[in-house]
Amino acid sequence: MSSFKKRTHTCGELRVSDIGKTVTLTGWVDIRRDLGGVIFIDLRDRYGKTQVVFNPQTNAAVHELAGSLRNEFVISVSGQVEHRPDGTNNPELATGEIDVMATELQILNKAETPPFHIEDSIETNEDLRLKFRYLDLRRPVLQNNIIVRHKLYQIVHRYFDENDFVEIETPVLMKSTPEGARDYLVPSRVQHGKFYALPQSPQTYKQILMVAGFDRYVQITKCFRDEDLRADRQPEFTQIDAEMSFVDEEDVQRIAEGMIARIFKDLKGIEIQLPLPRLTYKQAMEMYGSDKPDTRFEMKITTLNGLVEGSGFKVFADNVAKGGTVAGIAVPGAASFTRNQMDNLVDYAKSLGVGGLAYMKWTEKGLESAIEKFLGKELMEKIAAVMGAKQGDLLLFVSDSWLKTYSTLGALRLEMAKRLKLIDEGKWNLLWITEFPMFEFSEEEQRYVAMHHPFTSPILEDIHLLDTAPEKARSRAYDMVLNGNELGGGSIRIHDSALQSKVFSLLGIDKEDAEKRFGFLLNAFKYGAPPHGGIAFGLDRIVMLLTGSKSLRDVIAFPKTASAMSLMDEAPSEVDEKQLRELHIRVV
Ligand code: AMO
Repeated sequence: MSSFKKRTHTCGELRVSDIGKTVTLTGWVDIRRDLGGVIFIDLRDRYGKTQVVFNPQTNAAVHELAGSLRNEFVISVSGQVEHRPDGTNNPELATGEIDVMATELQILNKAETPPFHIEDSIETNEDLRLKFRYLDLRRPVLQNNIIVRHKLYQIVHRYFDENDFVEIETPVLMKSTPEGARDYLVPSRVQHGKFYALPQSPQTYKQILMVAGFDRYVQITKCFRDEDLRADRQPEFTQIDAEMSFVDEEDVQRIAEGMIARIFKDLKGIEIQLPLPRLTYKQAMEMYGSDKPDTRFEMKITTLNGLVEGSGFKVFADNVAKGGTVAGIAVPGAASFTRNQMDNLVDYAKSLGVGGLAYMKWTEKGLESAIEKFLGKELMEKIAAVMGAKQGDLLLFVSDSWLKTYSTLGALRLEMAKRLKLIDEGKWNLLWITEFPMFEFSEEEQRYVAMHHPFTSPILEDIHLLDTAPEKARSRAYDMVLNGNELGGGSIRIHDSALQSKVFSLLGIDKEDAEKRFGFLLNAFKYGAPPHGGIAFGLDRIVMLLTGSKSLRDVIAFPKTASAMSLMDEAPSEVDEKQLRELHIRVV
């Protein structure tokens, strides 16, 4: 025997066709209103809301009990479904044409007054929401995000199963093999002084599974990275991780874009045109100033080296002469920017690390610029023509190294598009970025670091560059980009232990070090490693973008703050002296 009356329907279910039925609903009191002696409540569960009416004429005792209801009380209520009186339908609710006239009420649990009201449009400070996450999660938007996430798991599992992938779990306690971000470490109690690391990704395991002959692997898995956090980064996040044997870039990309197309179709009813467009890293940088370009708007970059080289403007000419890049963007309709707005923009550009920002305005008086005296009218007009500019445009120019020039213009392009509202929010622009450089130079560490990761293969025709000009070598890495966000990335791997050792040495990992850190992988490669490659998607990011959420925190049930804390359960926390002693650890 149940201690309470169980529901016959959910709070999102009843319609006009149910009128006359006697039903029982269970859920939380969303809101209570007393109108002329009659009490109305909205009863909420994850399926929706239903209005319940307590009329003293229907049942005086039940009406009286209803008077004690407060927000978030948990109740079971029974009564008859009736048509709402004329003019009182609520078209915003799926159940908005009916009421339940209560004849029975059980209060299953009381609730203290919640620290904030449970509704979608809340202004409550996020820390408070995270502290009371169970209340926050009652909000329909968050419930929807979590349910979309659930549906995504099902679609992804189905898709990969249909394509012969095997889901295999890999360890969460693994060997620390630092690459990219910092590891989270776990001390071993049994092995005095030794540590496990939490995986930044299952990269090495999935490659070893290829050596083991599994051919097609997939896993929806947690990854952990102790890195600086932003809205699109969490210290623990979820990847859709895949690896395939006997493949090249095209094969991996076909599977990956098929998955994305399936997700869009099943979750949003949107057909994505396949194959997705592709840009090389170089093209993306020179056109959009970004390796994750937002292609929902134009404002493409124009390279001006040819025009300004040898010109009277020494800043530009000298930069080109020493191998730098001069380029610009034409911002539509921004010629009207005030002095103040321009100063602000110049400061913004400087904050990105360039020395300055030159500009021209094309007003009704023609092209105007402070650098006219250096460039001359004729060259200014030529530049404007090459850039496809028109009256009303603001032309911005940066002169610096190849990377700085394009990345600064890329950031300005985005910033201007946001300020001028040039982005069509209804678009879903997906594309691949290919042929990333193998290495990038880390100013901080004064050495080359892998642009993707150390297991990524160079493009075969660039292998000779590894000895002569490693910075020019391109890799077989690719990223999938959606509306300016990196959704996923992967590569064709090195499967030859000699080439792998060579890449390690270029990364400053010597033989001994490589042996210590990656010896298990190099060893595996000695026993018949098939050609292989793969990709991993950020599942949280996909859900964030599909649901139009602003932060990953809105699509993760129990997320961490920017300072990597869980405010609800207060992790991380101090531990007992005894625990530390067992682990041979002392906090200083
Ligand atoms: P990568 O490091 O590019 O590749 O990660 C793949 C994808 O994971 C997501 N992602 C994150 N999401 C949330 N918070 C984070 N801190 C975070 N970091 C990454 C991104 C990213 O595109 N092993 C390789 C994949 C491979 O080569 O197969 C890897 O992890 O969406």
